[in-house]
Amino acid sequence: MEKYQFQKGFLWGGATAANQIEGGFHEGNKGLNIADVLPGGKGRLNILQSPGFNFEIDEETYSYPNHEAIDFYHRYKEDIALFAEMGFKVFRMSIAWTRIFPNGDELEPNEEGLAFYDRVFDELRSFGIEPVVTISHYEMPLNLVKEYGGWRNRKVVAFFERYVHAIFNRFKNKVRYWMTFNEINSGFIMPIQGLGFSIQKEEDKYQATFQAFHHQFVASSIAVKACHEIIPNSQIGCMILYAPVYPYDSNPENVMYALQEERLFNNFCADVQVRGEYPSFIHRYFKEHNIKLDIEDGDFELLKEGTVDYIGFSYYMSRTEKKEKSELEGMDENLIGGVKNPFLKASDWGWEIDPTGLRISLNQLYDRYQKPLFVVENGLGAKDTIEKDGSIQDDYRIDFLRNHIKAMGEAVADGVELMGYTSWGCIDLVSASSGEFSKRYGFIYVDKHDDGSGTLERKKKKSFFWYKDVIATNGEKL
Ligand code: BG6
Repeated sequence: MEKYQFQKGFLWGGATAANQIEGGFHEGNKGLNIADVLPGGKGRLNILQSPGFNFEIDEETYSYPNHEAIDFYHRYKEDIALFAEMGFKVFRMSIAWTRIFPNGDELEPNEEGLAFYDRVFDELRSFGIEPVVTISHYEMPLNLVKEYGGWRNRKVVAFFERYVHAIFNRFKNKVRYWMTFNEINSGFIMPIQGLGFSIQKEEDKYQATFQAFHHQFVASSIAVKACHEIIPNSQIGCMILYAPVYPYDSNPENVMYALQEERLFNNFCADVQVRGEYPSFIHRYFKEHNIKLDIEDGDFELLKEGTVDYIGFSYYMSRTEKKEKSELEGMDENLIGGVKNPFLKASDWGWEIDPTGLRISLNQLYDRYQKPLFVVENGLGAKDTIEKDGSIQDDYRIDFLRNHIKAMGEAVADGVELMGYTSWGCIDLVSASSGEFSKRYGFIYVDKHDDGSGTLERKKKKSFFWYKDVIATNGEKL
């Protein structure tokens, strides 16, 4: 197709998370959270995916880039003005739970934290930008991790309930779009960030992971119900890391294996959050892995009553699967694994680039749920170079985004109901999986580097002007 048609009022914008942009990690009475104890550098992914992390800060050995991040805490006005210049309709951000409840288990919220987000929302609204707020984006209070064992512990549900009540009541006139847990299914591959604990023994993995998911599902339903009650014109969604799984070839064994992986990784959490019940395929899995969930009376009713209004999802890559694969074939760098897809190229960080996979994802999700979809993350992490004239010619990023937006246009033409698109890291930020600044996603460059140096000055990249045109023409000019 030459011209794509996105619905009137399509929610164009950009996405971020508090821990990756704010900094000010000790300011405003904020407590420590998980991101504050994660070291920077490529070793971070290994920590996130291996058992035994101790959640301690060790400044002699490591650096902690999330502590200062890009200093949005002090520079939000400048950044929001730049988003407005691009014509953003929405800005996806998260609230740091530890700004509101520094330890997670206090009875009263922290006024300074609430006041900070009041200022940010007011600033956005002064430009007509609607905030889209993730309630929990890899930012669990460290105290809940250390003293309670993260989401494994049922008590955390009540703390979360107090947190959501505090923010819904405070921001009910300022925020209409919400999301519960960022990439909830990432708990399968990065439990530290997603579920708030480190697997200690491999054999405990299944039980602990699914018990924690159950608590998150209950917490998500509580949040959905409270959101609808407190903010009647609101919409609240789930947020899934969606990566379609392709069979490596037509061998039925590989096709079946890909289907099983697809259902478990991509569908399981969304099935519960969208349909309000556990999917039938999971019962066999529970049996085979000896998983016995602790479920309280009323939980199933709650899941049914608290289903989400829309499906937010991130899309970066697809995954190709084979039932039997050798170690050499494994694609660890593709974040969610699989084997190499011979038809795809990968980014400098090894994430396979597959725009058609986005069209496939949108169709699969809409076929399965018939709920409005919202692409709340998509982007290319790449190194940028500043030219002699000071410009940043990030054509590779423009190509990536253009091809993915075209794929969305195709999906809309296929009949999918799509609410909006917020590209990830609209301003350079700290990478979640590697803690690097050099893995840049932004339309706006931030002068900040992996060794901690940099002036934090902001600069518009070529993609800034390109995206501005995309938004101004509602996606007709790509
Ligand atoms: C998603 C997360 O996994 O992908 C973001 O929701 C993250 O927090 C983004 O930053 C990109 O990943 P990374 O590891 O390149 O920062």
